[in-house]
Amino acid sequence: MSYESEYQRSLDDPSTFWADQVQRVPWYQEPKTILSRDANGNDTWFADGELNSSYLALDYHVERGRGEQPALIYDSPVTLTTRTYTFRSLRDEVAQFAGALEDLGVGVGDRVVIYMPMIPEAVIAMLSCARIGAIHSVVFGGFAAKELATRIDDARPVVLLTASCGIEFANVIAYKPLVDEARELADHKIEHCVVLQRSQCPAEMGASDLDWEQFQESASPVDPVPLKSSDPLYILYTSGTTGKPKGVVRDNGGHATALMYSMDAIYGVSPGDVFWAASDVGWVVGHSYIVYAPLFAGCTTILFEGKPVRTPDAGSFWRVIAEHRVNVFFTAPTAFRAIRKEDPESLLVKKYDLSSLRTLFVAGERTDPSTYHWLCETLDVPVVDHWWQTESGWPIASNPMGIEPKECKAGSACVPVPGFEICILSEDHQVLPPGEEGDVVIRLPLPPGCLPTVWGDHKRYTDAYLVQHPGYYHTGDGGYFDEDGYLFIMGRTDDVINVAGHRLSTGEMEEIVASHAAIAECAVIGVEDIDKGQIPVGLLVLKDGANTSEAQLEAELISLVRKGIGAFANFKKAIVVSRLPKTRSGKILRQVMRKIADGKSFEPPATIDDPVILDEIRELFISHRIGLLGEE
Ligand code: COA
Ligand code: AMP
Repeated sequence: MSYESEYQRSLDDPSTFWADQVQRVPWYQEPKTILSRDANGNDTWFADGELNSSYLALDYHVERGRGEQPALIYDSPVTLTTRTYTFRSLRDEVAQFAGALEDLGVGVGDRVVIYMPMIPEAVIAMLSCARIGAIHSVVFGGFAAKELATRIDDARPVVLLTASCGIEFANVIAYKPLVDEARELADHKIEHCVVLQRSQCPAEMGASDLDWEQFQESASPVDPVPLKSSDPLYILYTSGTTGKPKGVVRDNGGHATALMYSMDAIYGVSPGDVFWAASDVGWVVGHSYIVYAPLFAGCTTILFEGKPVRTPDAGSFWRVIAEHRVNVFFTAPTAFRAIRKEDPESLLVKKYDLSSLRTLFVAGERTDPSTYHWLCETLDVPVVDHWWQTESGWPIASNPMGIEPKECKAGSACVPVPGFEICILSEDHQVLPPGEEGDVVIRLPLPPGCLPTVWGDHKRYTDAYLVQHPGYYHTGDGGYFDEDGYLFIMGRTDDVINVAGHRLSTGEMEEIVASHAAIAECAVIGVEDIDKGQIPVGLLVLKDGANTSEAQLEAELISLVRKGIGAFANFKKAIVVSRLPKTRSGKILRQVMRKIADGKSFEPPATIDDPVILDEIRELFISHRIGLLGEE
């Protein structure tokens, strides 16, 4: 079947299209109702289906004779460890840990927060929750205590699972003090905290802390419980435009169906293939393509506790591909920019046999054409830039490698994935022709796998995603189609920024910066950065009489953001301005400042209050070497 006919079929008759795809999933009860409306008028997939995602990831493959196949290979250059779990051994570990959770009273619908580094126990924890119907919420290990506390208060978990430390290059990061601080800060009090002790930095245990090994050793293994398709599998918090992260909810049935389809249609993999997504379990890529999709599809997944560089060198990715015979590799472009900086001639690639590799997928941010061309020259395989979001849970646009591979174009995320009717709209909801940039939206209904709601706040879901363009899901990205139907995603149109593949809210950073006693008013904008894609920059208006030096103030703000969000926010630059550019109604012109920093052309709005300030800001950007303008 050609891509065009598959795509058209998915739009013309979604129910029949997805009725075919549910056959890929071993349901306990196969759904008869494919697409329906729930009591609130929301689209729902597979309402009467029943399944268990842990069964699908593990037990099913053991039953089908894959028990001895490696399911998960943990490769950790930072601890010099490699450990392999077969489908059978992973199932047994998960069943045991799930039993321990049940003994603690955790059951269907209870929330479990997981704050762990890239170790197999994080995957075991996720799949154990899935097994007993508990809803996991994994929090990226780089988040500071305050962010963890915010998520604890929103998800209201019964238990928190953690490890004593994470390892970032040569730095050991103690997690337990952060967890203790978050528990102090949160209004919601968690009864139990289970801690995996790592030898690099054992944690001091408190009265309500349980040791991971002791916690599970006397538990009995439990079987997966049947769950409704719409029962939440997990909540994953993501940055929005406000300081409060959104709890993206993922269901069980739509997720399983979409991921199974994607492994075949997009990634072109089959059971037994080795699939490696070098991301983190704290992000959506980690959820979908380190944990669930490869295991659902009977592939071997790689869990890599290392970095593209300095663990020990810029050849670490190539070493892992060669050593574990990886067939499909997926990571963020920023990782390759880091490798390229250290090994521009790709000399380290030549040390390894990469003949197992069939395709490289990149996502998380746009792949700039220069990195794309470098990758094409470095690796003798198709390089696929594909676009998606935490909210979608799987790719919205990609080269459909398993249906009909297309020629890739530098800078493009290729074509819409079947199930997603992508349109480019003007502000007044008109569909724009090829070549014209506008809001990238998806016509409703969204296909299976996409978020059905925001945890605990359905109004927030409709307000954030469905109101701006009635009848469409608003992605928050801007972009255009070219004449050949290739999609180009050009960046966010809101206050979300993407720093080294990490999604962050400038609104949240503004709240932190504004809390400093010397600041009268501020704006944080994301400016282009050669290594990290984007970095945040603070523009500060000081209170009258504030007598801190600019350098001192910058240092204090950097420390506040590290403490409030985390070091990975990379907030390192703040400059003092006499005033901020605004419209007459008081709206700060963040987009205009961003364009100035990026050296792009812009039209100040007719309603600008004081255009002269833009020249001052331009001069400041140049003198402080901010954005691409600073590179001139
Ligand atoms: N836990 C604790 N701290 C973390 C962390 C984590 N999981 N991840 C990052 N940090 C810290 C770093 O240690 C660093 O701290 P420092 O300022 O004290 O040195 C800071 O956050 C900045 O990190 P980062 O921007 O990631 O820079 P880096 O130099 O440490 O690493 C890369 C550069 C390219 C290796 C890294 O950014 C990377 O691997 N990015 C890919 C991200 C990704 O996979 N995204 C998912 C989309 S697919
Ligand atoms: P996240 O929810 O963390 O996955 O971030 C999603 C956002 O990252 C998207 O809304 C885009 O802004 C950006 N993004 C992800 N993948 C791509 C891509 N391939 N091209 C351009 N932008 C991307």
